[in-house]
Amino acid sequence: MTLMIGIPREISAGEKRVATVPDVVEKLIKLGFKVAVESGAGDAANFSDEVYRAAGAEIIDGAAKLWVASDIVFKVRGPTAEEVGLMREGGTLVSFIWPAQNPELMQQLAAKKTTVLAIDSLPRTLSRAQKMDALTSQAGVAGYRAVIEAANAFGRFFNGQITAAGKVPPAKVFIAGAGVAGLAAIGTAVSLGAIVRANDTRAEVADQVVSLGGEFVKVDYEEEGSGGGGYAKVMSEGFQQAQREMYAKQAKEVDIIITTALIPGKPAPRLITAEMVKSMKPGSVIVDMAAEQGGNCELTEPGQAVVKHGVTIVGYTDLVSRLSKQSSTLYATNLFRLTEELCKTKDGIINVNMDDDAIRGLTVIKEGNITWPPPAPKLPAAPAKPAAAKAAAPAAKGHGGGGSNEPMAGGKLAIMFGVAALIFLFVGAYAPAAFLGHFTVFVLACFVGYMVVWNVTPALHTPLMSVTNAISSIIALGALVQIAPPVDGADGRGLILALAVAALALTAVNMFGGFAVTQRMLAMFRK
Ligand code: NAI
Repeated sequence: MTLMIGIPREISAGEKRVATVPDVVEKLIKLGFKVAVESGAGDAANFSDEVYRAAGAEIIDGAAKLWVASDIVFKVRGPTAEEVGLMREGGTLVSFIWPAQNPELMQQLAAKKTTVLAIDSLPRTLSRAQKMDALTSQAGVAGYRAVIEAANAFGRFFNGQITAAGKVPPAKVFIAGAGVAGLAAIGTAVSLGAIVRANDTRAEVADQVVSLGGEFVKVDYEEEGSGGGGYAKVMSEGFQQAQREMYAKQAKEVDIIITTALIPGKPAPRLITAEMVKSMKPGSVIVDMAAEQGGNCELTEPGQAVVKHGVTIVGYTDLVSRLSKQSSTLYATNLFRLTEELCKTKDGIINVNMDDDAIRGLTVIKEGNITWPPPAPKLPAAPAKPAAAKAAAPAAKGHGGGGSNEPMAGGKLAIMFGVAALIFLFVGAYAPAAFLGHFTVFVLACFVGYMVVWNVTPALHTPLMSVTNAISSIIALGALVQIAPPVDGADGRGLILALAVAALALTAVNMFGGFAVTQRMLAMFRK
């Protein structure tokens, strides 16, 4: 028996998203499921009943009928008590739940013997889970929209322009918190032409900020801000003081501040004080994305855009819903990827496999039993401390040079140099002069090659090798010379020709393969 996936209309005030979209309906049907959509569920996201019907969904009038008809319900916002009342006993629900904040809802769902997959409880550090990570997809949309809201409230261009009417300097944007939403905001603001700076307590995001075209502004205080699992921790008072000083300086300089700082389960850190707002230029804009958690700015009013001290402070809590078509499409795709994991047999039946790390993390109630919180996730090993890295570096070099993992001892090195010097002396004394020239070039080439390759970060060895492969294929020249017609009709040409052709074929693989790999790698960085 194939299961029915039901999509009710979202009833929370201001929620414009819908849990699946017509394109994804088709894919769910291909997985063997039946899909029912409540009439009007997609209206706010511009997906009409007709388009859902054309994609193969059944349209059901009224929430009550839809909930009863559905074996599995896909939702965006956690259900209300009334919705839980409508739910079929023993049914399955996939939705945002936030179990820590909603213990009552958890009890109601458990009492109905349901199985609940809370999309917010996905273990985000599992790379395999990224395709199902709705928190990330939605925060990315919110970050983009935050910049658009800022641009809307800001009275100038983002990019610098030189026109006949005068010179316009580019807008300066400061982003506080470079998590998912912050990075999306950086990318968007950079693409609009602004000068973008960002700060985060987790030092490891600095590279990501730079790679998106932003500048990472450090707090002048040494403290590790990573609390594990990709999240931040509460910082010491000393750090916070230093951070406030840096933010106060930025507030005076920039035109737009977008704040996204958050530590899960904690009230939003207060980063922008009333004094800082006062010090901003008139017409400046602050978009406080953490408004719902109390705000990163002291003067934010959640859900509102207000003007205080000449600065527009946007505290909208529905940024994702303001791009409902886009956010619904991404959310629907995340849920489809999850459904694929639940239904590997493609027969319209789900298997909530608690041995799978990702599914285990998501499942907060299994057949009426609360299974939240899950056992501690297996976190990836913490990045090596600089001291450890320093110790590892000579080991890697030792490995490359002598096949040993231990740094080469001084005595051993001296013996090696001694032996090499003797060999060179011997070659110098007895080899023909022509050979000596080639030999010198060969030795120098080995030395330069070694120094170049081993001083490149190991992570870049693949791109480096792909280019050098292509270049080293200069040996093709040697083979080409051998292929040339015989000058004096000497014997044994057949064998030489065959060897030359084989050498040419092999080196061609090296050459074209090297360029092909380089090309593919470069394509990854092109827009
Ligand atoms: P995230 O956890 O990926 O990023 C938060 C970042 O803030 C982390 O990189 C963390 O290291 C940083 N941070 C924490 N404390 C800090 C401090 N004192 N100073 C500087 N950086 C600090 O979270 P995500 O997904 O990027 O969301 C960011 C915020 O946006 C959250 O508050 C979230 O609730 C909110 N949001 C708001 C929406 C809206 O409609 N207003 C929609 C979606 C998300």
